[in-house]
Amino acid sequence: MLVTGEAGMLGSRAARAARDRHKVTGTYLGKAPGMDGVEEVRMDITDREDVFEVVRKAEPDYILHTAAMTDVDACEREQDKAMLVNGMGTENLAMAAREMGAGIIYVSTDYVFDGERKEGAYAEYEAVNPLSAYGRSKLRGEVGVRVCKNWAVARVSVLYGWNSPSQHANFVTWAIGKLMKGEKISLLTDQFTSPTLLENCADALVRMAEARADGVYNACGRSCVSRHAFGMQIAETFGLDGKLISESTSDGMKWLAKRPARACLSVRKIEEEIGAKMMTTEEGLRFMKGQLDMGNAEGWSL
Ligand SMILES: NC(=O)c1ccc[n+]([C@@H]2O[C@H](COP(=O)([O-])OP(=O)(O)OC[C@H]3O[C@@H](n4cnc5c(N)ncnc54)[C@H](OP(=O)(O)O)[C@@H]3O)[C@@H](O)[C@H]2O)c1
Repeated sequence: MLVTGEAGMLGSRAARAARDRHKVTGTYLGKAPGMDGVEEVRMDITDREDVFEVVRKAEPDYILHTAAMTDVDACEREQDKAMLVNGMGTENLAMAAREMGAGIIYVSTDYVFDGERKEGAYAEYEAVNPLSAYGRSKLRGEVGVRVCKNWAVARVSVLYGWNSPSQHANFVTWAIGKLMKGEKISLLTDQFTSPTLLENCADALVRMAEARADGVYNACGRSCVSRHAFGMQIAETFGLDGKLISESTSDGMKWLAKRPARACLSVRKIEEEIGAKMMTTEEGLRFMKGQLDMGNAEGWSL
């Protein structure tokens, strides 16, 4: 398997999940992550020649494509770059996969939806309508991936788990960091997502490849929670002071890019067809607590 974005949060977990059962090549853009049991190679997904060269050499059966420009506001500022990396970068990989007769799984996002839904969770077949340049560029990737015959899309949402010092913080590690220092945080009561534990998602991606999954899947957590409710669960799980958390609403946010209000995703299809078991936020946070207790939390201690 070829895992793109091996230095990233999800890519590192995907490479780790895949290496137990498969020969894995991981690609990075900046610095080689140095993971045991993974062959590492530099590749810029926006450079088509580079992509073909790397894919030809690695000869993968499957590409797990997690690399992306992931900063939503930066994508709004640099829309051409976002489209190039997330859209055309994905198409480059899909073309190389097609040439090699490989399959490709492209990690996409809940931000392809406008989040106008009032209740429930989006199924895979529902109409997309991204509100941001990030969402549009990821949707362009969903189109580009189809130039490969064996394609699948795995939509995820608010990834969380212990981040290593070289990886960016995620909502959970950000909240833990603040609450640990006794700092107050204000969390939205009107933005709902399906937070996705990194290890759970990585396992689902490998299962999708092994099952030769075909088409669009939601590969996120099974809960639909507001940021505030999730924050309260974090405080409770890690024994931190929930009284430091206050409520706020999105109309007070100074975001550059618009975010969907309710972008929860249904996991019924991936569970029924692939046999992946997607975790609730309670289960995911308990998993992280277990890693912490075992000293297996990327250097984190509370
Ligand atoms: N984070 C979330 O909450 C979230 C939510 C929904 C969907 N997603 C999707 O999930 C996937 C993983 O997200 P993540 O947060 O784990 O990502 P991440 O930690 O930001 O890592 C992304 C990786 O992409 C690589 N990359 C960026 N530009 C590249 C280029 N031109 N060529 C090759 N590699 C490049 C970077 O490599 P280097 O580090 O080596 O420079 C980086 O490690 C992405 O597709 C993202 O769109 C994420």
